[in-house]
Amino acid sequence: MENINWGELPFGYVKTDYNVRSYYRNGKWGALEVSSEETINIHIAATALHYGQESFEGLKAFRGKDGKIRLFRWQENAKRMRNSAIGVRMAQVPDELFYEAIQKVIKLNERFVPPYGSGASLYLRPLLIGSGPQVGVKPANEYLFMMFVTPVGPYFKEGFKPVKMKIEREFDRAAPLGTGSIKVGGNYAASLNALHNAHEEGYASALFLDAREKKYIDEAGPANFFGIKNNTYITPKSNSILPSITNMSLIDIAQDMGMNVERRSITVDELGTFEEAGACGTAAVISPIAKIDDIANGKSYVYTESGEAGPVSTALYKQLQGIQTGDVEDKFGWVDFVE
Ligand code: PLP
Ligand code: COI
Repeated sequence: MENINWGELPFGYVKTDYNVRSYYRNGKWGALEVSSEETINIHIAATALHYGQESFEGLKAFRGKDGKIRLFRWQENAKRMRNSAIGVRMAQVPDELFYEAIQKVIKLNERFVPPYGSGASLYLRPLLIGSGPQVGVKPANEYLFMMFVTPVGPYFKEGFKPVKMKIEREFDRAAPLGTGSIKVGGNYAASLNALHNAHEEGYASALFLDAREKKYIDEAGPANFFGIKNNTYITPKSNSILPSITNMSLIDIAQDMGMNVERRSITVDELGTFEEAGACGTAAVISPIAKIDDIANGKSYVYTESGEAGPVSTALYKQLQGIQTGDVEDKFGWVDFVE
């Protein structure tokens, strides 16, 4: 792909050659279809449009030094999408179909897989929508599962440079017994005002608090939160955050590096005790946090002023990326190859 400046890619949409689709009709998933169209034809009364019957996923493929294309823990994304489907009463995509879509869409767009060492990767976006019509509030009878790909660079434009975040005190992203723990579009719609305001005020993201007590850290926009102190990796336990596959992986990596791990509630006050803090996710990888402002309370929590990530975040980042690209031994069995 001579026209792409891989090293400068933002996290955005680049048109690729093909996407894949499968329709669920009469209780069955149909054969995977290949399309070169960027658009879909959808019923005007489709439940995805009216009642938010929608779920998406995000995972990445990486080109290794050996030229092979590696997938990172796709089974976890497949499982999470099945949970999301259960959560908003959609048909579940079987893992075999999910895997077939991954293999096919990558092979068809192989020229868009960024080269090893460019820092970019191929982002896969599985999408499941209620495509059948309903006017009453009811689940659809038909569903459409799709997957497109786009080559991407870092989600936060700073990449692995520490960013500023603010505690969100005006908006909630998810209700205590709501849909925060599944990956459905409504959660992201609910986060848009907070994220817009944060960006306008010069922050990379808003840090959402638990909706009930406004006392505990939930998550960092489209990423989970972690703090580091006393050789311990600490990350929130909450029913209203997305169970991040990156976070699960960092927990294992941290333990493997000899760190302790705590998964528990983190109060806003505890932010002042961390040596390092960061946000993690497929798109964000690790985004180190330089500073968190709690504007309403006139407080700031500063983790680094040097413009560089702390040593623990750096070690975790290197290990995770090393496994993903094949530079570090995959001792956890997280990597699969494009065949
Ligand atoms: N939290 C939210 C709200 C997200 O959208 C994402 C991205 O998928 C994450 C956390 C990180 O999850 P993962 O590491 O599985 O990408
Ligand atoms: C991801 O990390 O894959 C995400 O889905 C984050 C975001 C772009 C919504």
